[in-house]
Amino acid sequence: MNAIEVKKLTKQFKKELLVLDSISFNVKEGICFSLIGPNGAGKSTLIKILTTLLKPTSGEVSIFGHPLKERKNIRKKIGLVSENTVFYDQLSAMENLMFFAGLYHIPRKVAKIQAEKLLKLVDMWKWKDKAIKEFSTGMRQRINIVRGLIHSPQLLFLDEPTLALDPQTSQIIRESIKIAKKRGITVFFTTHYMKNVEELADEVAILNDKRIVAQGSLSKIKRKFDSNEKRVEITFEDETNAQRAYKILKGVLKDNVKAHDTSVFLILETSTSLKDVLSLITKNGLLVKDVNTHIVSLEEIFVKLTSN
Ligand SMILES: Nc1ncnc2c1ncn2[C@@H]1O[C@H](COP(=O)(O)OP(=O)(O)OP(=O)(O)O)[C@@H](O)[C@H]1O
Ligand SMILES: [Mg+2]
Repeated sequence: MNAIEVKKLTKQFKKELLVLDSISFNVKEGICFSLIGPNGAGKSTLIKILTTLLKPTSGEVSIFGHPLKERKNIRKKIGLVSENTVFYDQLSAMENLMFFAGLYHIPRKVAKIQAEKLLKLVDMWKWKDKAIKEFSTGMRQRINIVRGLIHSPQLLFLDEPTLALDPQTSQIIRESIKIAKKRGITVFFTTHYMKNVEELADEVAILNDKRIVAQGSLSKIKRKFDSNEKRVEITFEDETNAQRAYKILKGVLKDNVKAHDTSVFLILETSTSLKDVLSLITKNGLLVKDVNTHIVSLEEIFVKLTSN
């Protein structure tokens, strides 16, 4: 079953401001799906629509088979961690969590057990009785994650969950996402950090200029955008070896070879194999220290697809 189905979804704020233009995609149940795109691409708008906070202009959306008008059914099944979550600052973390659990009609006893488990998960148990107003951004965000999971949703949305967080807190957030996924929760998140995508996402969609310009597993996207050329760096024991290799390879590769310090950089087209290059080098008695093949990164694909 699909957790999310989106068909020809369009959102226009004013006559002249079209944000999403007839986008379609599905998110399979149980996967971690990441939506990326430049500032202002419409990621938060899309999350607001999928979480029933904002109405689309046209198109169809279904969450676990429920159309958007079945708000109550949808809200029971989803959790949302967004940048503009409001807490009661004067109240403690636990009091806030009990309040939100109450909104979902979770019995207090059950909510307490769940809160304890989740607060320990994000390493905030010792802060449970402190007022939210005393919390830093990272501490608030950890409570925000607990809030998003307190009612055991089947689908968790996170809008830029690691924005402005230190590396340690970001890691705790990423770990919580992994644990949520392990428990079978479908995860949908937006981010500007490609590291999050590489580490967490089973599938990615890139949103640009009102449309989804690429979608699929990371390896599928990478395969699609990886060119036929292979970029290789060969490092030698010293600069003399590198210079000799450069002269030899120049004869074969022409402009597709450059030298710098103890390395030579090659661009290999499909007709030349790395094996041939390396045997040519060793035949000439040169001492190779390291060989690195460049694999296209998601960041490079992102920049390529979204620079208009
Ligand atoms: N309530 C609103 N009324 C009018 N325009 C809006 C509203 N909300 C968003 N927009 C516009 O919609 C576009 C998309 O905004 P959105 O916040 O969805 O982008 P985003 O992809 O989340 O960007 P960021 O990466 O900066 O968070 C922007 O041009 C924004 O100005
Ligand atoms: Mg946003």
